[in-house]
Amino acid sequence: KNILVLNGPNLNLLGTREPHIYGSTTLADIEQAAISQAASSGASLSFYQTNHEGALIDRIHAARQEGVDAIVINPAAFTHSSVAVRDALLGVDIPFVELHVTNVYKREEWRRKSYFSDKAEAVICGLGPFGYKAAIEFVLDHMKERAK
Ligand code: DQA
Repeated sequence: KNILVLNGPNLNLLGTREPHIYGSTTLADIEQAAISQAASSGASLSFYQTNHEGALIDRIHAARQEGVDAIVINPAAFTHSSVAVRDALLGVDIPFVELHVTNVYKREEWRRKSYFSDKAEAVICGLGPFGYKAAIEFVLDHMKERAK
């Protein structure tokens, strides 16, 4: 399997960003763990973070050419705003898991609105950095292969 993990704006600040909310684990820690987790199952995993909506869309488009089987995405603030990123995921027709480090239902009311959840295979929130591990394990071991 070929897995792509995508992270939206401000997630490069994980570990230093509002640590009372987001914790002290950095995105580099999460990336390292994700790559070795996939490798130990014989899968390959690419990890990408951007603060730019267009760059995220371009990366999603490239995933189709690369034969990516599944995407794990933390759209961050784009969760609540981006029709364009939603449309990119639907456009490439690659199944995806939506992931949030925090429990978005325990926070501001407007964080409950997601442009992704109704199309996601699964939605994970509030597990902290463990959410990435859970999402990747789900994709590796439990998500059905897409008919090609
Ligand atoms: C987030 C939750 C979003 O509401 C927020 O804008 C983020 C991170 C999370 O991982 O908990 O940037 O996606």
